[in-house]
Amino acid sequence: MTKKADETVKNNLKAVPEIDNQPSPEVAPPPALEVIHRPGLEKVVAVRSTISCVDGNKGILEYRGINIADLVRYSSFEETIFLLLYNHLPNEREMMQFNTLIAKQRGLPASVRDAISNYPVGMHPINALQSAIILLSGEDFYADDVSSPQHNIRRCISLIAKAPTIIAAFERARHGEQPMPAVTKYTMAENFIFMLTGEPCPPEIGRFFDKLLILHAEHTMNASTFAARVIGSTHGSVYSAISGAVGALSGPLHGGANERVLRMLYSIGHPDNVDKFLDEMITTKTKIMGIGHRVYNVKDPRAVLIQDFMKNLLEIVPGEGRKNLYQTALKLEEKAKERLSHKGLHPNVDFYSGIVLDALRVPGDLFTPVFAISRVAGWCAHWLEQIGANRLFRPLQEYIGDHKRHYIPIEDR
Ligand SMILES: CC(C)(COP(=O)(O)OP(=O)(O)OC[C@H]1O[C@@H](n2cnc3c(N)ncnc32)[C@H](O)[C@@H]1OP(=O)(O)O)[C@@H](O)C(=O)NCCC(=O)NCCS
Repeated sequence: MTKKADETVKNNLKAVPEIDNQPSPEVAPPPALEVIHRPGLEKVVAVRSTISCVDGNKGILEYRGINIADLVRYSSFEETIFLLLYNHLPNEREMMQFNTLIAKQRGLPASVRDAISNYPVGMHPINALQSAIILLSGEDFYADDVSSPQHNIRRCISLIAKAPTIIAAFERARHGEQPMPAVTKYTMAENFIFMLTGEPCPPEIGRFFDKLLILHAEHTMNASTFAARVIGSTHGSVYSAISGAVGALSGPLHGGANERVLRMLYSIGHPDNVDKFLDEMITTKTKIMGIGHRVYNVKDPRAVLIQDFMKNLLEIVPGEGRKNLYQTALKLEEKAKERLSHKGLHPNVDFYSGIVLDALRVPGDLFTPVFAISRVAGWCAHWLEQIGANRLFRPLQEYIGDHKRHYIPIEDR
């Protein structure tokens, strides 16, 4: 350092006030925060967000301010992803570029593809998804550096594009089949069905699947989204955040319900058996899958929309068994309404989605992974929002254990 520069540094340092740890007598201490405990964080506002909004009394869900009924009617899953990530609808050029970008990102690195082909066949596909997502971080040398918004959004797009490929590859691997290569000319919905079944997906079937993906893409501060944001708040990588969110989604009280709804409907077997089934569930205080929601006091708008297009789907997909399943679900909804709606219990998104997925020939244990491959879009939007204006999550606990216990040597216990 030159003499002049040294002088300047010294002068600048003189200008920095000395640290005074003593509280100034004139400044009043901040008021003590009211400490409250709400089990399950019920009615606690954990974040401020512009991504989606639920009106649980009116049964309205909006993504970035747009009603999901409009998105299901006019949009596509790709456009919905764009909307969630960028907070505006794309113009034609942006849409074209985004479609190309996302289609090009579908392939898996060889290391991850090989790992999936060696996963235990008994593994639940949702766990395969969770594990393969974290493996992808091994192919991203700078995965832990979350400082560049451009790189972060690229990573999100890549993950959203790859999640369906992971599930399709695992499904084929566990049946001893080679993965199908992704086809860029197909939409995400058509490509997933193609990679799963090995057969081109008729566009009208792809459109039903597309609608289902739109409806699952985002849903405010649920357990899995919260998990993604908590991990994001530590500046954990997008791979950690999304794989953590997949883990949170897997439980039966969250995304795992759709698979169980279908099993339940099959076990009921026929609309005539609904009364007996419901009696049993109510007497034994057993929860009926696909019913109830923490934020809706009315029927979940996604259930209404799924039910709406499901009728059309069942007309073009043959199968008396499925029609019987639908009739059973309708009767269960009607009877549950008579007996449980006073508790604010109504069908949620999972109540009818299983019937749609069954009609699309998606195996039962892939229902929750399908939910996840759509929700990666919402989780990514939340991860980006969290790291964009971060505050580390660090709630309190209320300690209700003992104090001042004596340590007793092991020989005296
Ligand atoms: C989603 C869910 C966890 C929300 O639950 P919650 O807000 O924590 O509500 P609670 O579990 O405290 O239930 C409140 C009351 O409704 C009852 N209830 C809630 N869901 C019920 C269901 N699916 N079937 C029957 N009764 C139900 C509870 O037994 C409780 O009754 P009580 O007051 O007489 O004890 C719950 O409705 C549920 O487990 N549903 C089934 C699983 C499911 O479909 N999950 C997907 C959600 S999208």
